[in-house]
Amino acid sequence: MKLWSGRFDKNTDKLVDELNASITFDKRFYKEDITGSIAHATMLGRQGIIAQAEADKIIEALKGIMADMEAGKIPFNIEDEDIHMCVEAELTRRIGDTGKRLHTARSRNDQVAVDFRMYMKKEVLEIRAMILSLIEVLVNMAEKHTGTIMPAYTHLQRAQPSTFAHYMMAYANMLKRDVLRLEDAYDRMDENPLGCGALCGTTHPIDRAYTAELLGFARVCENSLDGVSDRDYVIEILSALATLMMHLSRFSEEIILWCSWEFKFIELDDAYSTGSSIMPQKKNPDIAELVRGKSGRVYGSLMGFLTIMKGLPLAYNKDMQEDKEQVFDAIDTVKACLPVFTAMVDTMTVNADNMYKAASRGFINATDCADYMVKKGMPFREAYTVVGRLVNHCISIDKTLEQLTLEEFKTFSEIFEADVFEAISLRTGVEMRLSQGGPSKASVDAQIASIKAFLESKAE
Ligand code: ARG
Repeated sequence: MKLWSGRFDKNTDKLVDELNASITFDKRFYKEDITGSIAHATMLGRQGIIAQAEADKIIEALKGIMADMEAGKIPFNIEDEDIHMCVEAELTRRIGDTGKRLHTARSRNDQVAVDFRMYMKKEVLEIRAMILSLIEVLVNMAEKHTGTIMPAYTHLQRAQPSTFAHYMMAYANMLKRDVLRLEDAYDRMDENPLGCGALCGTTHPIDRAYTAELLGFARVCENSLDGVSDRDYVIEILSALATLMMHLSRFSEEIILWCSWEFKFIELDDAYSTGSSIMPQKKNPDIAELVRGKSGRVYGSLMGFLTIMKGLPLAYNKDMQEDKEQVFDAIDTVKACLPVFTAMVDTMTVNADNMYKAASRGFINATDCADYMVKKGMPFREAYTVVGRLVNHCISIDKTLEQLTLEEFKTFSEIFEADVFEAISLRTGVEMRLSQGGPSKASVDAQIASIKAFLESKAE
């Protein structure tokens, strides 16, 4: 018999039960649900809304249910509809009429809201820790490679000289923003919806600040209609996770390119690569490709969620039961990807020689050559044109800039002197890029120090 059977003359159709039930997925909330119920019962007893002895009995029984659920001893049946009904039904089975007092001054609407917020808070902290570990790996990698010259690209065309450390620190900064976005969303969602009731609060003298304190919320949701119908925090977190996956996807794309024979800048560890069923020579970057692909699922969750919420009137609507599965999928996906991705990056081998070889071709010192002329007094736009002609000439005779003789340089401009060779060497190109944020060792060391200070500030 349904908890709400009083109003009805008939049972629900079996197919309705199946469609209506959320227990198959919201069982994931059992800990949050019972913790929320314990806080609620504690508050009810303290406020004298139910007798203290009854509150104690409820709390005792809830703890027992928690232990049994943890041990997998309680089956989840769709007859119970959702985790909230399941726990309450079990409670009543165990302690009879006293169990029926738990739902005083509460609704499933504020119950599910409190469960979801607690669940999201917990998951955000776990994901945040995983991102911090990845940043740490990037910093370690950067520290080893401040002198590893590689070409940096625009339009995937060799552009200017950089280092592998400079590259790693770019990703470290992207991931730092991901951490900050999650923290920011966390602070905003740290509000207690318990006590909003079904939608318009309650006539019972409840104490919402007290349950907030018991459940570790920083504040209470200030409006009960908003408190039960707000899912902004989920959208914010999905958006932060979608951005994180976009970053991992971009990084994956580079890793996939870098371990191709055309680049061979890196080699992935065997433990993080896969083979082909037919081509014996293959060593494939499947993990990077999967991470790149899985970003699509997380974007999908965000889009799906926004669509569910669009146009919903206040307050709770059953549409909102659809809010969970795709969030779980996004969270599971991110949590499955991050540790493997981190280990893959941590164990990859860097092929500094190939990076240097690639940097030596493609005229990535052309800007430096123009800058050399500027330092000798030529206006930049003019120098740019001279170097353009020089590059064109080099291409026609299959040489690099540094392979030209001084005499050849001088046929393009009298400004060139013997010191041009030093000015356009790759090493100089990197080391003289001392501007803040640039690839010189001094600049990258400063970036490393800054991210290390960030990591330090986040260490528990
Ligand atoms: N299982 C429901 C959900 O996940 C809980 C809230 C139900 N409230 C209601 N009035 N039907 O959204």
